[in-house]
Amino acid sequence: MKIITVSYRLPVSIKRQKDNVKITQSAGGLATAVLSYSEKSQKNLTWVGVADFDQQLWEENKNNYDSNFDIEPVYLERRLNRNFYNVFSNSVLWSLFHYFPSFIEYTHDGFEAYKAANEIVADKVNSIYEPGDIVWIHDYHFMGLAKIIREKHPQAKIGFFLHIPFPNFEIFRVLPNKVRRYLMEGVMGSNLIGFHTWENAIHFTECIEKMLGFPHKNFLFSQDTHRTKVGSFPISIDFDKFHNAYDNPNVVKLRNEIKDLYKDKKIIFSVDRLDYTKGITNRLNAYETFLNTYPEWREKVVFLLVIVPSREEITKYGERKKMIELTIARINGKLGNYKWTPVVYQYQSVDFDRLIALYTSADAALISPVRDGMNLVAKEYVASRKDLRGALVLSVMAGAAKELQESLTINPHDFEQIALKLNYGLTMSEEEQARRLEHMQRYLKKHDVFRWASDFLNETEEIHNKDTKAVAL
Ligand code: F6P
Repeated sequence: MKIITVSYRLPVSIKRQKDNVKITQSAGGLATAVLSYSEKSQKNLTWVGVADFDQQLWEENKNNYDSNFDIEPVYLERRLNRNFYNVFSNSVLWSLFHYFPSFIEYTHDGFEAYKAANEIVADKVNSIYEPGDIVWIHDYHFMGLAKIIREKHPQAKIGFFLHIPFPNFEIFRVLPNKVRRYLMEGVMGSNLIGFHTWENAIHFTECIEKMLGFPHKNFLFSQDTHRTKVGSFPISIDFDKFHNAYDNPNVVKLRNEIKDLYKDKKIIFSVDRLDYTKGITNRLNAYETFLNTYPEWREKVVFLLVIVPSREEITKYGERKKMIELTIARINGKLGNYKWTPVVYQYQSVDFDRLIALYTSADAALISPVRDGMNLVAKEYVASRKDLRGALVLSVMAGAAKELQESLTINPHDFEQIALKLNYGLTMSEEEQARRLEHMQRYLKKHDVFRWASDFLNETEEIHNKDTKAVAL
């Protein structure tokens, strides 16, 4: 018996270097958590995903790679992949599910590519599936998959987890009827469907009732072949990894460097992938309002803004980057001077040690998405503050705000409120910082990513097993 995890990205990368080929495994939370579950439950793990590397390179080198799980890359033809990933997944589903209906770029080819990619990935899963395996499907790229797998393997245990928000019916109905039906019927092939919050689970359940007319009892739908449970499973982080990194010698060195550089200033910090959902322009405008409302902070604060490049081929992302950079230039030009740069901006990824050094140097983290499924940056910031210093200013539009109850919550559009909370956070007593952080750390330590994965997979098995018992009787 094994776990088959399906996600668009594979947790490995392979690169040709000067005279060798290097395969690296991602240290991401999802991979670590599923791996830990597979070890504890003594089930093997196979990961299926779309290859972003060359097939020949992989085939020639895969046997030199010593991994604790199997990798099954799926190779999609370039144009198909572009229509599947850039167009339908990221310019239709991503925009709509994050409540940006006017950003949708729906095309017939995009939807056809989405269906074709789901068929190809399902063929791969079906070819390696053995009775007893659990299939765990991740995210909006693969909403058609569960149905296709169940048609071939009616007894399969299938879980689907959506990593982004699920919108209400009024937004979802923007999609053409055939598209909505495909997505809904597809996901309903699962035994368990998980969301980050109950709000998302309720939206989904209402869409199912309205569109497919299926009744449910306590979020449990009975279908001819199987039952489907809908629930909330907020994703989390590897708490200990972030918490214990505080004392790593390299982190200490980097933190000292940052603190020394800004020794006479308070630091506000944020890090996001480039995305219009992250509210980065709002955040910058709110920071400007903060500097205008509390001019005493000028030259006494710096905003370290890290943006990680993402989905650069998609027009809306390129446009957002320009907008952000213009806003930074405007603020720095208007309020800065030869001694002080109000916003220090970096458009690059940062490695783990540097990220922890930044988190643990910051007097406040300002996280202001206009819509976000969860937002793990908020959880990482809290976990990494072993010193119990710092304030978290967090948008109520992030799933994380439901759990991080001691954060200073803000509406991402209310610049005056953000300014007020920033001022509050930066002047908060050490006792209050510690009390708030301790409360949130206790919660995160208990609700880490390992618990998330095991809760989800155990429940997938449980629902499936109850069905099988009912059939046997
Ligand atoms: O939050 C949803 C998600 O798909 C994550 O799983 C992923 O890490 C992130 O968005 C970035 O997406 P992409 O794979 O498109 O770079």
